[in-house]
Amino acid sequence: MHEFAERGPSSAAFSPGAACAGPRSPAVLYDERMALLLDIRDLRVRFAAVEAVRGVSLSIHEGEVLGLVGESGSGKSATALAILGLLPSTAHLAGQILWPGGNAGKELDLLRQPAEAIRRIRGRQIAMVFQEPMTALNPVMTIGRQVAECAAAHDSSLTGKEARRRAIAALEAVAIPEPAQRYRDYPHQFSGGQRQRILIAMALINRPRLLIADEPTTALDVTVQAQILALLGQLQREYGLAMLFISHDLAVVGQVAGRVAVMRAGEIVETGPCVQLLTAPQHAYTRSLLAAVPTLCSDRTLPLAVAEPCQDLF
Ligand SMILES: Nc1ncnc2c1ncn2[C@@H]1O[C@H](COP(=O)(O)OP(=O)(O)O)[C@@H](O)[C@H]1O
Ligand SMILES: [Mg+2]
Repeated sequence: MHEFAERGPSSAAFSPGAACAGPRSPAVLYDERMALLLDIRDLRVRFAAVEAVRGVSLSIHEGEVLGLVGESGSGKSATALAILGLLPSTAHLAGQILWPGGNAGKELDLLRQPAEAIRRIRGRQIAMVFQEPMTALNPVMTIGRQVAECAAAHDSSLTGKEARRRAIAALEAVAIPEPAQRYRDYPHQFSGGQRQRILIAMALINRPRLLIADEPTTALDVTVQAQILALLGQLQREYGLAMLFISHDLAVVGQVAGRVAVMRAGEIVETGPCVQLLTAPQHAYTRSLLAAVPTLCSDRTLPLAVAEPCQDLF
């Protein structure tokens, strides 16, 4: 059975404080003893006249989930793609993205590494899951082979048999039923939620230190979205993963992130613990994002509020 990739309401029963990855859900909250992992300093990304990212500074600690939220076009994906070295060559970049991925933990500036070095880091140390599970998978290759290739890409000594064994284990970890039997199936034979699970298996097979999840549930319907969020939270805790979780939806971010950064028109306008952001937002823009989330008390006969427009951009 196939799910339709439609965007459903994410948060029918949203209640600000309770939706946070607080004590109720054991997502790792930032604590100052955690080691700094990724340190973005004054990142700027420009496409011709469009300043997509305007001086963003963010840090992510070992094992921490940082949420990045903001309306569409605010520069979230440009930030993620800059970390991964995946922006097109037309993008002008400035700032620093510091990552302790060199020999003996040496700090590297990811913006200034040769393409080959970034390729080694991408997928091995920093992995990603994007919004659209169908376009991210090769439609004419079996899913087993695609998952096994992720393992083999970063370990040339891996035998075919061992790559297959690891791929099946990775598919099992993301709860694909009967992975050994389904190994030879193609992407279209899986539902949207299962395809996203397969992409998570591919992202995590090399046990990266950081997972960047850019709108990983936006294309899924609301029930499947909740299952994928639960899976990401479970794997994040199990593997001690750090995660940058990106969404336009504050309610979704609140379910997995310990700390949240709010982005608007290329800038971070507010950063803080999730509970604080959802219960006592300081910035008017965060308040308007919150107002755009339906709650149990929302009057469903009225349209939802929309985030305030970014007049200063135009
Ligand atoms: N490859 C590109 N070429 C030109 N402009 C781009 C490109 N990618 C993104 N942009 C522009 O950069 C801004 C930020 O986009 P993006 O980072 O995708 O936002 P978000 O992920 O928050 O929705 C937008 O104005 C978008 O149109
Ligand atoms: Mg985006």
